[in-house]
Order: sequence, then C-alpha cells, then structure tokens
Amino acid sequence: MRIDIISLFPEMFTGPLGHSILKRAQDSGLLAVHVTNPRDFAYDKHRIVDDYPFGGGSGMVMKPEPIFRAVENVVNAVASANRRIVLMCPGGQPFDQAKARELAGYEQLILVCGHYEGIDDRIQQYVIDEAVSIGDYVLTGGELPAMVITDAVARMLPGVLGADDGAQHDSFYNGLLEYPQYTRPREFNGWEVPEILLSGDHAKIERWRRKESLRITLARRPDLLDNIELTPQDHKLLQE
Ligand code: ADE
Repeated sequence: MRIDIISLFPEMFTGPLGHSILKRAQDSGLLAVHVTNPRDFAYDKHRIVDDYPFGGGSGMVMKPEPIFRAVENVVNAVASANRRIVLMCPGGQPFDQAKARELAGYEQLILVCGHYEGIDDRIQQYVIDEAVSIGDYVLTGGELPAMVITDAVARMLPGVLGADDGAQHDSFYNGLLEYPQYTRPREFNGWEVPEILLSGDHAKIERWRRKESLRITLARRPDLLDNIELTPQDHKLLQE
C-alpha cells in the first residue's frame, strides 16, 4: 500500500514513522509513505497557502489551489489505483478499528492534513472522499491524526505484523477489549501471575481469557457490548 500525506509540515513525519513495525513494513516493501507539501504547489511569489475567510471572522483558511494541485500530483503518481482521499478533521466521522480495516483495503490512501481554521470547503466537496476524526478533541492540525491513521492502517496490512498475526487478538478485533497478558517472572515484588496461565490447560486458558475480556469490557466500555452478540456461554462466564 502507498500512503500519501499532504501536509504543510512534512518534517513532523520524518521521525515517528521510521521505527519498529512501521519501519520494517516500509523496508520490506509492504508500505510506502510519501509526504507532499502543498506549499510546493503554491505558485505565487510568496508561496501563500492561506487567506482570510470570506464573510469575515478570525483565523485563516487554507486556500484550495495548492491542496488541489498537491493531491492531483500524488494521484498522477499512481496510475489507476484503487484509492481513497481522506481529510483529517475534528468534524469528520469517528475513526475506529473497522475504519482502519476498511482503509487497509485500498492500494493508495491520500491523507490530507488541515490547518488553521480549516480548508476551503470546495476541497471537501469536490476532492475529498470522506473526513475522519480521531476523537472528540481539537488538535492544532491533521498531522498527528494522519500518523495515528497510518499506524492503525499499516498494522492491518497482511504480513506487517508477521506470521502469528497479533491483530487477531487485538482489543476491538472481536468487539471486546483485550484480556490481560503476563510474562516472566512468575512472581515479581510478591505480585503473582494468575495460576491458570501456568496450568498448560489450553481450553481453560481460552475460557479464562474470554471471561477477562468480557469482564474488562463491561467495566470500562459497556457501550461496546451493545454492538456484539454474546453467546449463552458468555453470559454464564459473566455471572461466575
Ligand atoms: N484536526 C484537528 N483535530 C482533529 C481530530 N480530532 N481528528 C482529526 N483531525 C483533526
């Protein structure tokens, strides 16, 4: 997959996407990330990318032409790709695991980072396929959301997490939060690992993990239980 990020601050992306799993994904050719600065597509003498809002009001609005040309440029870089153009915007649809999975199905993702008071709405009307928000808070720009989305989407790509595909056990994979994990030592500071995990009884361990997932989800995110069908066995586990 190719992810194109359209941002006025390309330097923000140089560090964060170059480590660990995202680095490996890029080194192995499963993922390519390109950052394009709309300022490079502002053709006036001062390379102006923003202007005052029509109708008055405070703040500046990002002009449509540099963003349009920047998007056009990366669209032309990949002939006839199955692509999605997504705007980072606090007023967008909530980004979640299902959206990450869906976006991972495209060959090219173009993530447009807004700034200032927003971007000229004609871009949203005529260029953007959808707007997404990473949460109900307002950030100074779309760069951090674009990194969040790049990370969440990249780890859904086949091969990125390696052979024993960790994404299968993720929080949200089956609509529940993840069960707790432990590693050595068996006892630390007098704090013990749950006995059942040392038993070697895989059926019992699976049952315990399911129960813990249900218990934690009920305690922290009961809203998630509205979206899934619990089995009679699940109801029994919750009652234990
Ligand atoms: N830009 C500013 N805040 C944002 C948010 N919460 N999600 C996506 N883009 C944003």
